[in-house]
Amino acid sequence: MHPERVVLLELSGAKHVVILDRDIANVPGVGVVRTDILRAAVGRRWSVGGRAFLVLTPSIRDTVGAVRRQAQIIGPKDAPSLVWNCDVKAGDFVVEVGAGSGALTLVLAQAVGPDGHVVTYDLRPDFLEVARANVSDAGLAGRVEFKLGDARMAIPETGVDAFVLDIPDPWEAVGTAANALRPCGHFASNSPNVEQVNRTVAALRAGTFVEIRTVEIIEREIEASESGTHPSFAPLGHTGYLTFARHVLEKL
Ligand SMILES: C[S@@+](CC[C@H](N)C(=O)[O-])C[C@H]1O[C@@H](n2cnc3c(N)ncnc32)[C@H](O)[C@@H]1O
Repeated sequence: MHPERVVLLELSGAKHVVILDRDIANVPGVGVVRTDILRAAVGRRWSVGGRAFLVLTPSIRDTVGAVRRQAQIIGPKDAPSLVWNCDVKAGDFVVEVGAGSGALTLVLAQAVGPDGHVVTYDLRPDFLEVARANVSDAGLAGRVEFKLGDARMAIPETGVDAFVLDIPDPWEAVGTAANALRPCGHFASNSPNVEQVNRTVAALRAGTFVEIRTVEIIEREIEASESGTHPSFAPLGHTGYLTFARHVLEKL
């Protein structure tokens, strides 16, 4: 197995994603390491300078957790719900609005597979560059097109399977979504505030959208040990509300 990246897991739970694109890599807190040694150690314990790591291949959770951040990224509990509820699958064509740091872009790019395509829009060129670098580091650049633009305005994409928004005023882009989506295509929006949800749902109801629903995903970790298994004492933080809908040509 020759992964392009590995994750170094410490006993404390700390993880370091290391990109193996050169003969040597700089491992935080360790220094320079030969990458062929890390490749050969996948699935095994690797010790250096009195520190021990497990060398793992990265999961999408590791990859998203390691992105360079510009804007607030999608929550790890919310990303899979967006993929499931938008029925995103291999070969799909997805438009994302609000690339931000590209965390959700990565998740969508993984879901559409090598034959799928993601177009992601952002208003800010500096954010797009960070998103592009994060997607490229994850080895998914070939599936994603980065576009500078305001997706509240008309966009050229049509026949879109899923249209996913993570912007402050998603209701302003509902018309764009309706024009871009194929019949029965999926709409999704992530918003931190109920007021944003209200305005988005009103815009969807006024348009050709059905099966409109909003959810908040609450994920509670369970800590299991021999002395007692119980929900984590960590507080449940709020991330956002997810609003879903399907675009149709006629309503009942
Ligand atoms: C919260 S961030 C998105 C984070 C992203 N989902 C992630 O997981 O990394 C919102 C982004 O939307 C962009 N944005 C806001 N309004 C926009 C619009 N009308 N069209 C395109 N991008 C927009 C902002 O520049 C910002 O980068």
